[in-house]
Amino acid sequence: MINHVIIKKILHKGRNLIMKKLKLEDVAALAGVSKTTVSRVINRRGSLSQKTIDKVEAAMAQLNYHPNVIAQQLHTQRTNLIGILVPSVANPFFGELTMYLEDALFQRGYKVLISDALNQTAKEERYLSQLMGHQVDGLIIATHNNKLEEYQHANLPIVAIDRFLRADIPVVASDNYAGAKLATEALIQRGCQHIIHTYTTNPSNWHDNQREKAFQAVMADHHLPAITYTTAFDCPPAERTARFERLFDEHPAVDGIFASNDLDAARLLSLARARGYRVPADLQIIGYDGAQATQELVPELATIIQPIEQMATYAVKLLADRMAGEFTPTSTVLPVNLKTGQTLKTLGSSSTGTDELLEE
Ligand code: RIB
Repeated sequence: MINHVIIKKILHKGRNLIMKKLKLEDVAALAGVSKTTVSRVINRRGSLSQKTIDKVEAAMAQLNYHPNVIAQQLHTQRTNLIGILVPSVANPFFGELTMYLEDALFQRGYKVLISDALNQTAKEERYLSQLMGHQVDGLIIATHNNKLEEYQHANLPIVAIDRFLRADIPVVASDNYAGAKLATEALIQRGCQHIIHTYTTNPSNWHDNQREKAFQAVMADHHLPAITYTTAFDCPPAERTARFERLFDEHPAVDGIFASNDLDAARLLSLARARGYRVPADLQIIGYDGAQATQELVPELATIIQPIEQMATYAVKLLADRMAGEFTPTSTVLPVNLKTGQTLKTLGSSSTGTDELLEE
């Protein structure tokens, strides 16, 4: 219960202290408690009554006093800082992933440093070194660059998303094999015979590569030719468009496309429409990722929905467990869902998915 009379007195007294450089003892004097008590309130250490906490916090607010984080770090040997490395927050999948990671870390009281590595190995290296220099307590890595030597020697808690870094670094991913199987089967069930998979090569990412493997396997099971068009993850947009134009030139009879991400699917959809294909009558298209922004911008697009929020909260949980020295599984695979849409012909049911969380 807040004692309003005490707080009012503190607020009044505080006005006279604002102009000088503030110290812990100023807060203590204003709140009428010892320096040790102020320090315990700031660090939430020991047993404290709500009345004491309110008094100290009111004094800090009145003085606009901000605890010296550097001094705290020296004392606790922890920074409470977590580094997040992603390829680019401009990609809806990574933008949404970063948002959920940041929020889950915030909920646990961490501060976050976000780095866009922009598919540049040198930039990722530089960021890594800066993050280590800031003594981050842990790292969440979702970048797509080739293996960096730094990860082999890093000796702090790390969790990877969609990416293999080192045998003892846990990976969180969605079920890419099952997702690609769902996508390919959805096209075959709807009568497609000439299906093309546009695939983003990704040497650092064995989980993502499962999509291509599943496509090949399902097509082989149905005795259909498995045609793939590859683009590099960091392929510039104009080059990507040219590659897809070539796909239509070389395969005018294409009747199904499984794109390994929604941005490519949206690009292919507009190129196909510009060439006069009727979607889904002549050509059916399915993407991958299902980020909120893409679903809103291209609502008609059928896609495989990755559980982005769950992937983020799970990665943060694993990191927290690792920082606490607890056991963590090396691989966690979360279920995906098929979202049908107007880019697929109607079959009856509207949603199927995988339903198990797999840990190893
Ligand atoms: O669109 C970005 C893609 O890269 C996603 O599919 C994600 O899984 C990552 O691998």
